[in-house]
Amino acid sequence: MATRCVSAPANILKFGRHAPVLTRLFVRGLATQKKPSSLFSRLDTFANRHIGPDDNELSYMLSQLGYDTMEAFVTDTVPDKIRVASSSISNQSIPALSESELQKRARELAQLNKSYKSYIGMGYHNAVVPPVVLRNVMESPAWYTPYTPYQPEISQGRLESLINYQTMIMSLTAMDIANASLLDEATAAAEAMVLAFVSAGQKKHKFFVDKGVLPQTIAVLQTRAKGFGIELVIGDALSELKDESAFADLFGVLVQYPDVNGDIADYTNLANLTHASRGLVICATDLLALTLLKPPGEWGADVVVGNSGRFGVPAGYGGPHGAFFACSDKLKRKMPGRLIGRSRDALGKPAYRLALQTREQHIRREKATSNICTSQALLANMAAMYAVYHGPVGLRRIAGKVHSLTQVLKSALEQRGYVIVNKQFFDTLTIDVSGAAKDAEAIHATAAASGINLRRIDNKHVGVTLDESVSPEDVVALINVFTSATGSSPITVVSDLTPVESLAVPLPLQRASQFLPHPVFNTHHSETEMLRYIYHLQSKDLGLVHSMIPLGSCTMKLNSTSSMIPLTWPEFGSVHPFAPADQVEGYLEIIKELEADLCKITGFHACSLQPNSGAAGEYAGLSVIRAYHESRGEGHRDICLIPVSAHGTNPASAHMAGLKVIPVKSLPDGSLDLEDLKTKAEKYKDNLAAFMITYPSTFGVFEDGVADACKIIHDNGGQVYLDGANLNAQIGLTNPATCGGDVCHMNLHKTFAIPHGGGGPGVGPICAAEHLAPFLPGHPVIPTGGDKAISAVAAAQFGSASILLISWAYIKMLGGNGLSESTKAALLNANYMAHRLKDYYSLRYKNANGRVAHELLIDLAEFDKAAGLKVTDFAKRLQDYGFHPPTCSWPISTCMLIEPTESESLHEIDRFCDAMIQIRKEADEIISGKQPKDNNVLKNAPHPIAVLTQAEWNKPYSREKAVYPALWLKEKKFWPTVARIDDAYGDINLIVMRLPFRRGNRLRVKS
Ligand SMILES: Cc1ncc(COP(=O)(O)O)c(C=O)c1O
Repeated sequence: MATRCVSAPANILKFGRHAPVLTRLFVRGLATQKKPSSLFSRLDTFANRHIGPDDNELSYMLSQLGYDTMEAFVTDTVPDKIRVASSSISNQSIPALSESELQKRARELAQLNKSYKSYIGMGYHNAVVPPVVLRNVMESPAWYTPYTPYQPEISQGRLESLINYQTMIMSLTAMDIANASLLDEATAAAEAMVLAFVSAGQKKHKFFVDKGVLPQTIAVLQTRAKGFGIELVIGDALSELKDESAFADLFGVLVQYPDVNGDIADYTNLANLTHASRGLVICATDLLALTLLKPPGEWGADVVVGNSGRFGVPAGYGGPHGAFFACSDKLKRKMPGRLIGRSRDALGKPAYRLALQTREQHIRREKATSNICTSQALLANMAAMYAVYHGPVGLRRIAGKVHSLTQVLKSALEQRGYVIVNKQFFDTLTIDVSGAAKDAEAIHATAAASGINLRRIDNKHVGVTLDESVSPEDVVALINVFTSATGSSPITVVSDLTPVESLAVPLPLQRASQFLPHPVFNTHHSETEMLRYIYHLQSKDLGLVHSMIPLGSCTMKLNSTSSMIPLTWPEFGSVHPFAPADQVEGYLEIIKELEADLCKITGFHACSLQPNSGAAGEYAGLSVIRAYHESRGEGHRDICLIPVSAHGTNPASAHMAGLKVIPVKSLPDGSLDLEDLKTKAEKYKDNLAAFMITYPSTFGVFEDGVADACKIIHDNGGQVYLDGANLNAQIGLTNPATCGGDVCHMNLHKTFAIPHGGGGPGVGPICAAEHLAPFLPGHPVIPTGGDKAISAVAAAQFGSASILLISWAYIKMLGGNGLSESTKAALLNANYMAHRLKDYYSLRYKNANGRVAHELLIDLAEFDKAAGLKVTDFAKRLQDYGFHPPTCSWPISTCMLIEPTESESLHEIDRFCDAMIQIRKEADEIISGKQPKDNNVLKNAPHPIAVLTQAEWNKPYSREKAVYPALWLKEKKFWPTVARIDDAYGDINLIVMRLPFRRGNRLRVKS
């Protein structure tokens, strides 16, 4: 136990612990921080802005806990045996840049990326982001800082936008139901394959993949197929699946429509044959093409997946983009990801919320067949806004232009002796160059000289994909690339182009049905209307722009403007993921530096940035472990030990990687039961593959026994996977390698400040020890990963590459010292909060020194027993105080998990504690009978304006108490826009889309 003393700056101590928040306010600020060491010191040091409490506040909090130094506090909090030297993460190992230096460095690196015009296609396009959406959604913290809308009363804006997304997908694909985004097209296809496998009772094991499917999708399918014992058959679906006998062992078929070469085929017959054999047809498709093509839902597809990136989301060197997943009604209960539905609130008014929450399959732990937690909400919102802005007429116009220019290109190329291989197309041509030019290489060389990237197919064929950004002048430039290879004279003027009137799509495959008839897609087409719609929605949502979001395990910290700025520079935004390496030197340098820094931070040898969520990182890490065992002739190792306290994605990932999950118990003090671990490790030692551990644990403590646990696993032949979602509590003090892990994932969208985006994007890179490095994920198009790489886990080689910039900037600006200081401040903030709340709430777990880690778990079971007050009642009442509730009912159903992070100042932490203490007093009034158990200020919370302004007020407390329970609210009040939402009603009467113009049309999906 470290020495303690109770000395704190006198000016702070005199106010005492219960000093009113406003009284303490005036002592804080940069003025109270250490003076710069010299006149020449930088003024824009990021750490000062990122870390909420200033030096005086830190001293004050330490003194409240009884410490005179930060080191004494850390010694009591983090076990000594896993501490690393303070020099390991310092400004020597990671130098700190000031905010302005970072901007300058980012500019230099941006200039290393060459802005070639890419016509590579393969699922990625140059998107045109409407400026009104770019500035007011993508670049707006009101949209990018909120959390997943689990608290619907303070999330109606993005819930409406996400239901717009679902509606748009359902309407364009003509499917019964769609979710609110998945990670990328390839993983969405993998989810669909597993859904088909499960739907067929897991009896048939073969899945047919048409050869026209994108190569990155096939690679991800290969990875996913392994864990489920699925065999992929890759071939020509139309010629190989001609009669029922061909389907004997198949549980499903995947086709791409239009395919990678641009061809459009009629799959109606294939769908009929597949259904006759009780299999499912999965179609990967393109939303813009569907404005002109017969939608898959009309020719028999059961599941439709794809990428909505071309609807106004920058290519970003591969992502992030919202993938979509739509299916027929009968499959909805097996659908992965999140689903938004309409329900009603306590006043009976319509309101949105997350529907059928079992859709988040990881809640089913090892029974889950899908593992989507973080998805791509922000990008789904952008795509939805794009459709709102353009509407059906605008979208068709865009598609029409893209298609017509492709036709113009086709006829010009044919006139010059080139052969277009695909006769039916939307925006993509596969060109046989062998008759007219020397070879494909000659065409690529001429294209490169003109700043143009074409798709490399083989020595005879070249691919070209057009998109919304392509102008007639661009088409002239393209034609001239092919013209100069034939030696004929170039055309120079657009008027030389010959327009073509008809569609290059056979009549039966042309779209005849209407799409997007809903008012929302037919109203906001002027910028004024659009801007107002965006602001109308955002005004309903609480984000970090309003107050702290103390969600345990989710680490909602500052997403600094400095780190966000470079993201939308065109040098980073407009890069195709498969652009040649010499055009992406800026990106590659950032990737190299980020990988190196993450290795330093974790203590590991190598890094893969490919996984695009934490759950995807878990899956990738476990697949790497499996490959390692296989390489040693121990492929039979298939047991994965996982503590009962683990996040649901852990067992779900293990199951998906083909491992059998054996739970490990916790002790009453919340720590891992080492005896149980030892018994199970020894029992399964011949087949032990891995142990997954979250550190600090999801119970919010640094366990003493982590190194011992890892040794037990290694002694029994297993590998240790460390879930690094809580890495923000480790940096500079300990690391996953020192704890004894072999591989870990990090949630860059938590620890490394990528904003949560209202439910994504995220990045879940993995770092691994040297012996696992050869197995890090590869990629079929751009070689990546180790020399014995497992196949891809995401569509793009570096996953959601553009947002890596945010974490790179975060690390570079904090530097090693700032990173370590952030960790300490995060630990101190949580412990101070635990200290302030300890007399009012029961703290479930702490270590032997009475310390929690970076978050605290409070148990509310006593209130349920005494007055029937549930965790939800406390959560909803916090909304009345202007706060987003902490993580509720996880990892223990009666608890709240609270995480303040380092970015919150003492003032904000005190405000939150004051609110919690006040709510405790309100609960006491209910327990003592002053307010009835079924009609009280907690059960009736939240109190939106509609409740406040009701003519009749039959509540045993005043209107004032309902909405202004604390003084500060009079000045600064965030109003929930609806009353408490009725979940059960919404699930029984499932409505998952906006209603179209027609009156009385219920558009209800059977529940
Ligand atoms: C401990 C832990 N592990 C894993 C995850 C999964 O991360 P993601 O949501 O990025 O898939 C989470 C997410 O909340 C988590 O808290």
